Amino acid sequence: MEDKTAPKPVVVLRDAHLAERLSLEDLQWRASLVHPAYRNALLEDRGIVHLPLEHLADGGGIVAEIDGKVVGFAVLLPVGGGVSELGGLFVEPEMADQGVGRALVEEAKRRAERSGDVLLKVVAALKAEGVYRRCGFELVGETETLLGRALIMLQRLEHSVAE
Ligand SMILES: CC(C)(COP(=O)(O)OP(=O)(O)OC[C@H]1O[C@@H](n2cnc3c(N)ncnc32)[C@H](O)[C@@H]1OP(=O)(O)O)[C@@H](O)C(=O)NCCC(=O)NCCS
Repeated sequence: MEDKTAPKPVVVLRDAHLAERLSLEDLQWRASLVHPAYRNALLEDRGIVHLPLEHLADGGGIVAEIDGKVVGFAVLLPVGGGVSELGGLFVEPEMADQGVGRALVEEAKRRAERSGDVLLKVVAALKAEGVYRRCGFELVGETETLLGRALIMLQRLEHSVAE
């Protein structure tokens, strides 16, 4: 059982390199397999998981490392109208529950705020709702994805609270 009092490892964040697209796509596939509802579809069609190169361009890909090893990544996409979308958040299953996901969300928030956006959106797997709520998102709706029903969640970014 996880020791909640154990110190969390130091997570180093950096831009994703275009050349690591395939290894990040593999990480995304491994991470997504943890969802029982998605597992069969993912095992039947590996192609469901696709990380477009353009999502990693211009600082859109954020990689998390622990001790020099890639352990997770997120994708931040500009949507327009003051909105950025967290287009992906994936952590190696054996490195889950150690703060990597939160570190990536916080970095995505900082980057979206720096670009002047006021809202951060995510289309969340059902099983990830609790993690996203914990990281500040609120549920605003539902949608369908290639992997089935998913949740639309939003959070207001700090500098937008001017009132
Ligand atoms: C979802 C995922 C990215 C989370 O990454 P992680 O590194 O395990 O998350 P963290 O350890 O940083 O936890 C983030 C917060 O959520 C909390 N949390 C974790 N599991 C939770 C749960 N089931 N319910 C509620 N909160 C939860 C943690 O306690 C932590 O809160 P804290 O920082 O206030 O202590 C990771 O499990 C993953 O890759 N899952 C498979 C792919 C996926 O579902 N991606 C997201 C949907 S697109």
